[in-house]
Amino acid sequence: MNKGIAIYPGSFDPPTNGHLDLIQRGSKIFEELVVAILRNSEKSPMFSVAERLEMLRALTADLRNVRIDTFNGLMVEYAKSIDAICILRGIRAISDYEYELQMALMNRKLEPTLETVFMMPADKYSYVSSRLVREVAQAGGPVKGLVPDVVEQKLREKLDPAYKFHDANIVEAPEVDKSKKTSDKKRKKKA
Ligand code: PNS
Repeated sequence: MNKGIAIYPGSFDPPTNGHLDLIQRGSKIFEELVVAILRNSEKSPMFSVAERLEMLRALTADLRNVRIDTFNGLMVEYAKSIDAICILRGIRAISDYEYELQMALMNRKLEPTLETVFMMPADKYSYVSSRLVREVAQAGGPVKGLVPDVVEQKLREKLDPAYKFHDANIVEAPEVDKSKKTSDKKRKKKA
């Protein structure tokens, strides 16, 4: 594979474990991976660009060839300005394909020299999206395991006190009915 600079653009509102998984995979393939946060999104974001920048920087601090930046306007223009040779995007399920294909072809029309490369995050993240994470967290549900701990903490801070924090990993053992156990033993002895 032709190594060089790749750009991984997105909203990252907030960054999820799926994003992080893709960043780790991309960092193994490209010489440099620039994670680029769109600044002029029409959507009203949950996290400011500065907050997303800070979270992504913390999450990728150990990846030496990953850089976090922001961009405005056309993504291909920004990509050209940093000499990127390709755009990295993640495809989780077939439902992503149509939108991603449209975007890849539009970007090719705008800048034919820039290739789009698709990678799949780990299948355990195939249903994880920033939108659903926001929705679950806003409704007070658990997002542990879907987002990195630092993001979970930020969500908690942002949504508190509405955000009731759950630890999804704690599975309570079913209560043992001791009286029933004894009578079962007695029954067995009798038999
Ligand atoms: O994570 P997202 O929200 O799916 O990312 C979409 C993003 C930011 C990659 C896309 O909307 C984008 O590149 N916007 C910048 C404007 C642009 O270049 N539009 C043409 C894309 S075909």
